[in-house]
Amino acid sequence: MNIKAFEKKIYLSSPTMHGDEAKYMMEAYETNWMSTVGKNINEIESRIAELFGMKYAVALSCGTAALHLATKLAGEKLYGKPKPGRGTLYGHKVFATDMTFDASVNPVAYEDGEAIFIDTEYDTWNLDPEAFRRAVEMYPDVHILVIVHLYGTPGKVAEIKKICDEHQILIIEDAAESFGSKYLLDGQWRETGSLGDYNCISFNGNKIITGSSGGMFLSNSKEDAEKVRKWSTQSRENAPWYQHEELGYNYRMSNVIAGVVRGQLPYLNEHIAQKKAIYERYREGLKDLPVQMNPYDKDNSIPNFWLSCLIIDKDAMCRQVRDDYKAIYVPEHGKSCPTQILETLLAYNAEGRPIWKPMHAQPIYRNNAFITVNGNGRAQSNAYIDTGKITDVGMDIFHRGLCLPSDNKMTPDQQDRIIEIIKSCFI
Ligand SMILES: Cc1ncc(COP(=O)(O)O)c(C=O)c1O
Repeated sequence: MNIKAFEKKIYLSSPTMHGDEAKYMMEAYETNWMSTVGKNINEIESRIAELFGMKYAVALSCGTAALHLATKLAGEKLYGKPKPGRGTLYGHKVFATDMTFDASVNPVAYEDGEAIFIDTEYDTWNLDPEAFRRAVEMYPDVHILVIVHLYGTPGKVAEIKKICDEHQILIIEDAAESFGSKYLLDGQWRETGSLGDYNCISFNGNKIITGSSGGMFLSNSKEDAEKVRKWSTQSRENAPWYQHEELGYNYRMSNVIAGVVRGQLPYLNEHIAQKKAIYERYREGLKDLPVQMNPYDKDNSIPNFWLSCLIIDKDAMCRQVRDDYKAIYVPEHGKSCPTQILETLLAYNAEGRPIWKPMHAQPIYRNNAFITVNGNGRAQSNAYIDTGKITDVGMDIFHRGLCLPSDNKMTPDQQDRIIEIIKSCFI
């Protein structure tokens, strides 16, 4: 193949700075607000609350911290304060999205709870409402759900919310990857990150806008916002000395980091437009291959197109096996697999990534329940009877899908080369 390797690496999704970030960081330095208080924090909290149509935004050190405190709030609301040494979810289960980054669900374990993983649907690659309904029937005592909008694509929120309303289930919304994505709920366009009872976003270095790190908790409840603010600054009580009645955390965002976020905010729509153009170019360029782009609901959602992904048609997959650490494949004429494409991209100095490996297949969560549209997703086969009922959508997408280089600084020419590289895998 006559394609040259990239001299400079093409990344999956790298930070894109514009200049103002340095100005606001310097402002923090020059005014000596080199701390977890200051103008940058105040500015981004009020601007983001307004952007999301929410009353309160609390800036935190990362999205994982926001998810942790959101999970703790939900646990305390339902089960009260735990005994010393125990998490708020001790002895309780939580429904959770299965195909996601582990940061979405680890806070359930931080709080001593047990996640029940719900399988994925093919229409948006998010939590399947049908499988969720099965889970609710099987576990009527569970009253918390963690939802995610994978790769910036909103999930089937209306269906999910309906089930939650019927069964008094609180929603923790992980919008870490979907800042700027919109969803049509009850006839109104809403930001993802404003759809749950507890809402979280991330400014991790690879996100659509970044602070280099950072996250936020969003809420319409003054009480919840104040709790998160208190917990995130070591839970100090109102006394002249350091008095503590509940566990505290050092989770507040730095005013320097907030300066980066402040500088990035005006560029959100520009970044989304660039990511959308990348998605469209892949869709057009790959249309003759036996692959599909990551799908979305055109009528009810506007994704931020954070990562472009593809999934290979079943009959165009060459043989590929993965153990816990390695993958091998057998090349085959006219076919390919994620491992071959990822290795080939890497050989040309471009970075892709496998789809998030589902949580129920992670060794750390091997004993947690996993619910599919057919009910219990564990132990589905039978040595003596062909049940014909094996479904595991998450593992299927993990097996056949991959994330493509989606960096907004990639030029159309570079992207065309990536497309040619992918095509070469199917020869
Ligand atoms: C789906 C999802 N949830 C949570 C996180 C955690 O955010 P952070 O890295 O800011 O802690 C990330 C990304 O990093 C993510 O992709």
